[in-house]
Amino acid sequence: MSPNTHLSLFFLSLFLSISLPVLSSPYISPLTFIPNYQKMLKSFKIFSYTPPQPLVFSTPAESLFFSSLLNSSFLTPDPDRAHLFFVPFSSATPTRSLSRLVNELRTDFPYWNRTLGADHFYVSCDGLGFNSDRNLVELKKNSVQISCFPTQRSSFIPHKDITLPPLADPHHAPVKNESKNYLGYVKYGAVKESSLVNELSDDQDFLVERQPSDVLTYEWRLSVSKFCLFEYGDGDVSGISDAVSFGCVPVVITDRPIQDMPLMDVLRWQEIAVFVGWKNKSGGGSDGAKQLRHVLGRTYGDEKRYEEVRGSCVTAGQHLVWNEEPQPFDAFHMTMYQLWLRRHTIRYARTEVA
Ligand SMILES: *[C@@H]1O[C@H](CO)[C@@H](O)[C@H](O)[C@H]1NC(C)=O
Ligand SMILES: *[C@@H]1O[C@H](CO)[C@@H](O)[C@H](O)[C@H]1NC(C)=O
Ligand SMILES: *[C@@H]1O[C@H](CO)[C@@H](O)[C@H](O)[C@H]1NC(C)=O
Ligand SMILES: *[C@@H]1O[C@H](CO)[C@@H](O)[C@H](O)[C@H]1NC(C)=O
Repeated sequence: MSPNTHLSLFFLSLFLSISLPVLSSPYISPLTFIPNYQKMLKSFKIFSYTPPQPLVFSTPAESLFFSSLLNSSFLTPDPDRAHLFFVPFSSATPTRSLSRLVNELRTDFPYWNRTLGADHFYVSCDGLGFNSDRNLVELKKNSVQISCFPTQRSSFIPHKDITLPPLADPHHAPVKNESKNYLGYVKYGAVKESSLVNELSDDQDFLVERQPSDVLTYEWRLSVSKFCLFEYGDGDVSGISDAVSFGCVPVVITDRPIQDMPLMDVLRWQEIAVFVGWKNKSGGGSDGAKQLRHVLGRTYGDEKRYEEVRGSCVTAGQHLVWNEEPQPFDAFHMTMYQLWLRRHTIRYARTEVA
């Protein structure tokens, strides 16, 4: 399929999803998303400083983002045309070296001082912690941080920072139209062992996995379950991209508001996932499964409503997929899109860029 066909198919599906009930669109701004995305492809320019040495990243998503960016047409050798500046460094860079790096940018180039780093961005899976060093303070507080989901609470600044969609299952077979035999699927590690998990194990409607499964079994389980359970904070949420792609509506169990969902500026996560506040992770006593069933029934007892949300999931899923060679609207392009939304920074002395 040519990129153009891909694009027009996408257009069509977006058009259909917004011309029918607007309520079920997974997008925050369904009308402006496509035109703005096109504008990004045409005009977004990034200037990358030269990496100090070959870079080593701690996760595949970071590496993919980096290699995709360097090989993209977003890069410009002309800093005067750039909307944003990329500060490349390896995952394990000691804070002392990082401070020196920022100091070099400050003294060797005129760009840092214009915004004290606000039109700069960097990739760091773990995010930067607190540090009183001036260089690191400006980098952390002003520059856009791209880190891994879920983030450490202290290393993520909402509205400024971005999280990378977790790397989904690379095999990624097309969504199958299996009948949904199970109400819920708990993937191995996605929810910590607890009385809730024990209870769900005894419940025929839930599929609780206590050993990692092979890819085919995993995909089948995603396809035949209405909901996939995750625990934010303690569990492994990396499967959330797979769940969304396979139309297994994620149920995110959390004891606090979540501000670092991937593509948070683009996707209406409340249309894609169910967030269940769970003060007591043990399930609040002995009827956690009953409570969960109640919440799911109350929210999506209606089959039509469930199918709408599942459709939103599948539409959103294409944006969470990483490709070795970036494809339109995939995780790489959507991460770029979030940067594009952040390009308007105050410049103390600015040169006009288109
Ligand atoms: C870089 O991009 C070109 C075409 O734009 C593509 O053929 C090549 O495979 C890409 N290389 C990598 C490492 O992604
Ligand atoms: C940026 O400002 C600092 C003072 O905060 C100064 O030392 C440095 O030389 C300036 N950089 C440039 C390129 O002028
Ligand atoms: C796919 O799923 C929909 C909704 O559940 C159903 O109406 C349709 O008949 C299914 N199609 C096939 C080919 O199984
Ligand atoms: C939370 O769960 C634990 C273990 O089941 C229980 O002992 C405790 O009373 C619960 N706390 C609340 C506030 O429900």
